[in-house]
Amino acid sequence: MSTLPFARGILGKDRILHGGDYNPDQWLDYPEVLDEDFRLMKLAGCNTFSLGIFAWSSYEAEEGKYTFEWLDAIMDRMARDGHKVILATPSGAKPNWMAHKYPEIRRVNEQGLREFQGHRHNHCWSSPVYRRKVTAINTQLAERYRDHPALGMWHISNEYSGHCYCDLCLASWHRWLEDRYGSLDALNHAWWTGFWSHRFTAWSEVDPRDTSMDGLSLDWMRFLTWQVKSFFLHEIEPLRATTPDVPCTANFMGTFGGLNYAELATAMDLVADDQYPAYDTSNPDLARSAAAVSFKHDLYRCFKPDRPWMLMESCPDATNWREPRRLKRPGLHEAEMLQSIGHGAEGTLYFQWRKGRGGCEKFHGAVVDHIGNENNFVFRRVADYAKILDKLKPVLGTDVHAEVAFLYDWEVRWAWEVCAGTPSGNGAYDKTMHDHYLPFWEAGIPVDVFDSSRDFSSYKVVVAPLLFMLKPGVAERLRSFVEKGGTLVATYFTGIVDPTNLCFMGGWPGEGLKEVFGVWCEDHDVQNSGTVRSLNAVSGNSLGIEGDLTALEISALAHEEGAEAVARYADDFYAGTPALTVHTFGQGKAIYLGAKFDVDSLRKIHGSVASQAGVRRALEASYPRGVAVQGREKDGRAYLFLQNFSVEPAKVDLPAGSFRRLVSGEMASGSLELPACGSEVLAVE
Ligand code: GAL
Repeated sequence: MSTLPFARGILGKDRILHGGDYNPDQWLDYPEVLDEDFRLMKLAGCNTFSLGIFAWSSYEAEEGKYTFEWLDAIMDRMARDGHKVILATPSGAKPNWMAHKYPEIRRVNEQGLREFQGHRHNHCWSSPVYRRKVTAINTQLAERYRDHPALGMWHISNEYSGHCYCDLCLASWHRWLEDRYGSLDALNHAWWTGFWSHRFTAWSEVDPRDTSMDGLSLDWMRFLTWQVKSFFLHEIEPLRATTPDVPCTANFMGTFGGLNYAELATAMDLVADDQYPAYDTSNPDLARSAAAVSFKHDLYRCFKPDRPWMLMESCPDATNWREPRRLKRPGLHEAEMLQSIGHGAEGTLYFQWRKGRGGCEKFHGAVVDHIGNENNFVFRRVADYAKILDKLKPVLGTDVHAEVAFLYDWEVRWAWEVCAGTPSGNGAYDKTMHDHYLPFWEAGIPVDVFDSSRDFSSYKVVVAPLLFMLKPGVAERLRSFVEKGGTLVATYFTGIVDPTNLCFMGGWPGEGLKEVFGVWCEDHDVQNSGTVRSLNAVSGNSLGIEGDLTALEISALAHEEGAEAVARYADDFYAGTPALTVHTFGQGKAIYLGAKFDVDSLRKIHGSVASQAGVRRALEASYPRGVAVQGREKDGRAYLFLQNFSVEPAKVDLPAGSFRRLVSGEMASGSLELPACGSEVLAVE
């Protein structure tokens, strides 16, 4: 990870960013509250604030009449106190006057009705009026604050999402299709439109609401990403022109399914995530939710591997939209924040600095509560965390080094999700990723996560669960990866369709991968959820797996063509067919999981994969399940983040070596105790 190539980029420089969304525009009638904010910011150890995310109606209460005096004052105070500002473009919420005067900026819904004005994140992506208004306000902001010492980053809009079916957006969709396919014949073939007599004879006939052609549905998702990317690029034009030395980012939402974040990230200078984990400290399975969050952190670190990333939003207390609205237990806040830093984050910010008195988020956790001062547990926990952050500065700029890559791909996910007949409901794509990731996380094996179009040739192991669609060149690169000595792990529903969602013919996985895996699959049996089938590992198998494995509701009906069966089904009409195979191909190995295995079986399988491939753990030590160890290092500096995501205290047996606790400065050796939800950061000396 290098620092940002922007003279005024604040991420990854002299501070780990700490602070959050600050909405002084809601408090302009309370000058004493604003004064108090600046006193409290120092007390809380906060140093960075996102300003003006939803402030458009206060900047431009009347068309073309701008008022920035309050922002001038706040920016100046920020600079005076040494804070930095992530200044937002306000397009996430359009002013009422604008939406009423120019109805075209409001979205049209699936029923063809123009939406009422209200809420947020609901402007039309194509409206020339909205684009002009956005350019005007963004130009005002850029020109006014171009040289302001507090300005450190641009926060573009807020959590882009959603779609619009107005005539302008539909026309743009039709143009996009024409560019992509060139001819209606090509489109008709790609989408198999003979089905239900859907052959198109004009671009304008293509209605994105028709879900009967899954090729169309997949392209609509691609189009939405293109549309949002084009809107983002439009938004940043005046900022780039005026402040080329200030980086631009936008806040993403984990693995939100509506946009291909990997593609959007290519337009951004750095990526930022909003994370509100639902850690329940009364749940003995807490570690599984923690591992799922770690997976997302690894994904974010890898969007732009040579750039730092950050949490743009998180919550120091309970989030109002979670049921139940449980207050965060002691230790958990620090654990959540350090978890992201362990995975490479260089900033942890909150939504939000101060709770509003009204509006639907008034009971959402914030650093400053309605009591309005520092005398509550949330404020104290934020201030305590800030003291820890201060000691973590040496970690800035260090990297995570992984030898295992997971392929997480939005287009693959969409292709799988838009098809009827795939068991893709209830977030199955993400859940499957998390199940496969868990054994690596438990072993403290660093993992990179990125999409299948990226180069994975330098890794020792590639895990590609549910690689349903093969994007151009992916099969060839997987083949060459294995040939040259890599270990590839894939599952049922691999290599089924091409990029237009047309099925490969002649047995799966397609595009020559049958040869790589030494198996071919004729179909999948998807049984009721809750189905459990016990299988015996074949004795003496070359993966060294012993005893029972448990298969759940999904089974590929696979046939061996050179692979070794590690386990076979013992029942049903396909008894005897392989459920798990390994195939030596060239210098490497391709492992095919025909069955959906339970987590204990995945522990055995991935444990064997990791040890046979000789992948490195962050720390060679023994510790109980629930403990996570992440490592960051660079140029001889190495740090370990040890965290206990369990409801019981845990011990980590440190190996020989010299370890210093970064926060207390004390040395650590022997058996290190971590309380439930406790964290420790060690410098390896
Ligand atoms: C985010 C959003 C914030 C706030 C927060 C509440 O998704 O960006 O503005 O609404 O959720 O959790």
